Amino acid sequence: MNRRESLRALGAFLAGSPLLSDLLPGQQDVVRDHSRVPGLKELLTAFDFETVAYAKQPREAYDYRAYGAEGEFTLRRNREAFDWVELIPKRVSSGAMDTSTEVLGTKMAFPLLVSPTAGHGEIHPEGELATHKGASAASGTPMILSNNTSFPFDKVAAAAPGPMWVQLYPKQQLDANRTYLEAAQMNGARAVVVTVDQQVSYYERALHDRNLNPGRGGGFRSAAGRVSTNSNPYRVGDNRLWYEWKFFDEIRPFVKVPLIAKGIVTPEDAKLCLEHGVDCVYVSNHGGRSLDYGPATLEVLPEIVDAVGGKAPVIFDSGIRRGTDILKALALGANAVCLGRVPLWGLGSFGAAGVQRVLEILQAELVQAMRYTGRTNLASIDRRMLLTNFP
Ligand code: LAC
Repeated sequence: MNRRESLRALGAFLAGSPLLSDLLPGQQDVVRDHSRVPGLKELLTAFDFETVAYAKQPREAYDYRAYGAEGEFTLRRNREAFDWVELIPKRVSSGAMDTSTEVLGTKMAFPLLVSPTAGHGEIHPEGELATHKGASAASGTPMILSNNTSFPFDKVAAAAPGPMWVQLYPKQQLDANRTYLEAAQMNGARAVVVTVDQQVSYYERALHDRNLNPGRGGGFRSAAGRVSTNSNPYRVGDNRLWYEWKFFDEIRPFVKVPLIAKGIVTPEDAKLCLEHGVDCVYVSNHGGRSLDYGPATLEVLPEIVDAVGGKAPVIFDSGIRRGTDILKALALGANAVCLGRVPLWGLGSFGAAGVQRVLEILQAELVQAMRYTGRTNLASIDRRMLLTNFP
């Protein structure tokens, strides 16, 4: 069953359930033809936000973000991997709950950040300004601003008080990276995240299956109808094939804040990060949008954590939708997790208020999951609290 079919199946299920149709009278079919869109307070899990966001944004905008590479195997596997990890309950924990932590000098009330994702202006007129406002309002959740942002770093930073990091897609001209990174640091970026898993990004089925225009081919949001500028015919992207590990050495002189490599899925690459002075390993497969048929990030997290051996923090994304998912990633060794699609569902459904609420839901779910497993602080979360059954 693909993603769209499962959303439809959910719609049919909701329509058929007397309990839920009383609760959500508008949701005869959650993915199309809404006669009533539920209110913010009716949305109780992250998944509830996706259906509302779907209903409220242009189809192309939704499809772009829902997209996974090729057969969407890795996209599905990212979610499935959470089913292969069991949490061991521990009844009754005592003491006050403390979920706070500090990663690379950024203090946070919860071990949660907003992943860098492109073009929020496509799904809400206030774009990243609203995302940052919502994230800040959710106990100061840090936001990593995408290189493909709809609003510049300084404008987003001025919109809310929460901490911000900045993401970079390497540019071949070193000076172009320098200008961008210096401006972001001058405006308060507390860390630099370099994405290394999208050297080639071709959205093969973009036009056919996902309602995306051909310009999405080897790059990103172009005006409707614009064709790909790749050097080869058809769809095969070649945008960042030039870069090497030494890129980190080259940009280091103008990065005064911690430097993070995003898109690491093997212990070998994690070690190379450390050799090249990277301060933090960001385990990610780009939410299943990079190489398809790669593993789920949760599966590879423990071996990467072992390879890093405490020499640098490890952060994690791709597939997190629930508080128990966060807890599993923390227990397998992540210092914090990042959320990509989830805040976008919040943004697309109710703007800043939606972002705030969906993050608060995950925070509350994390606290609940910690209570159920007898953990009252992050230091007490470890591998002994789970069983992994990875295939
Ligand atoms: C993507 C790029 C923009 O995932 O990060 O679409």
